[in-house]
Amino acid sequence: MTDLSHLKQDFPILGSGVHFLDSGASSQKPIPVLEAMDQFARTSYANVHRGAYKLSVAATDAFEAARHRVATFINAASDDEVVFTRGTTTAINTVAFGWGLEHLQEGDVILTTEMEHHANLVPWQMVAKRTGATLDHVAIDDEGRLDMASFEDKIGPEVKIVAVTGMSNVLGTMPDVKTIARRSHEFGARVVVDAAQLVPHAGVDVQDLGADFVAFSAHKMLGPTGIGVLWGRMDALEETEPFEGGGEMIANVTLHESTWAAIPHRFEAGTPSIIEAVGLHAAIDYLDSIGMEAVLEHDKKLTAIALERLGDVPGLSIQGPKDLTDRGGVISMTMEGVHAHDLATILDENGVSVRAGHHCAKPLMKCLGVAATARASFYVYSEESDIDALEKGLRHAGELFGVS
Ligand code: ALA
Repeated sequence: MTDLSHLKQDFPILGSGVHFLDSGASSQKPIPVLEAMDQFARTSYANVHRGAYKLSVAATDAFEAARHRVATFINAASDDEVVFTRGTTTAINTVAFGWGLEHLQEGDVILTTEMEHHANLVPWQMVAKRTGATLDHVAIDDEGRLDMASFEDKIGPEVKIVAVTGMSNVLGTMPDVKTIARRSHEFGARVVVDAAQLVPHAGVDVQDLGADFVAFSAHKMLGPTGIGVLWGRMDALEETEPFEGGGEMIANVTLHESTWAAIPHRFEAGTPSIIEAVGLHAAIDYLDSIGMEAVLEHDKKLTAIALERLGDVPGLSIQGPKDLTDRGGVISMTMEGVHAHDLATILDENGVSVRAGHHCAKPLMKCLGVAATARASFYVYSEESDIDALEKGLRHAGELFGVS
């Protein structure tokens, strides 16, 4: 088992002693990422794809090098399959509005799941309303895993797109997306994967996964906010219309009409997040130097320790499966008689940062029969001492509220 304890020193913010257990919402950045962005901003920054002058060429080279780095990290067939977006949400909206509005009509079904983040539900609701397509949802089982029998029940020729998470941001469960993609394709449906949690914690080989679109964000994988990726297989991107119009996404413009630039640039209207692309590049280098297998193994090791340690905290219930099969480092908790927000506030007073609320997954909360949870999520810099502090804080909260 790889020991990652030396990594913590790379994250200046953790030097304050905070037990940061909210990497599922956004991760911290290591020194190499901060330095790469700083160095680029100080020495090589200009707008990209526009100027003939040296700085602009250098910036464009760095921006396109970041695209290439993403492509190699996810094993894309070509750099052109990597579209830079503002984040996972924009990437999914690009598919919903760029592909969905073009290809969906009355009688068609958009199949999502009960465990989706709002980012993979709301765009589809908006597109369903506009096109007349209907929505259907794959159920979750009692453990909080995606119910593959329910998927088999619902997949059929009327399903035109399947929108599924690669890893639940609430439960950490990882649906069998490979099988979902294969079966969906047998019925002629396209498949889009919300990989906002999957890519940072398990990586992805997009060719092996077999989906048509994969969306993820830099800020959950040690990189900055403001940049994410929509990977699309070239034939799927060719079926997609640009979702935003503006500068740099055109081949020609007259007063009345325009033609589009080549893929991927037609999907990148306006000035992109340039410094952030350099940061994403450095974040991928950092993750690759650890190895994504070691990253997932580390998350799982901490999850196993936490599940065992928290198992006998009075009044505490943990949502989601207790075994580690196809499950990442996310633990959602409720404490009898204590609101999730109170739990998070008391944990914060004990130096532990967790997220509390519905985690942008209100329908999933309903399925779980809870209004809100407190959620601890791990990453490469998390340590057993963070779990010690979490356990201590939870026991303290229980004592304050008289939970026995
Ligand atoms: N999607 C992020 C989370 O799960 C914000 O916390």
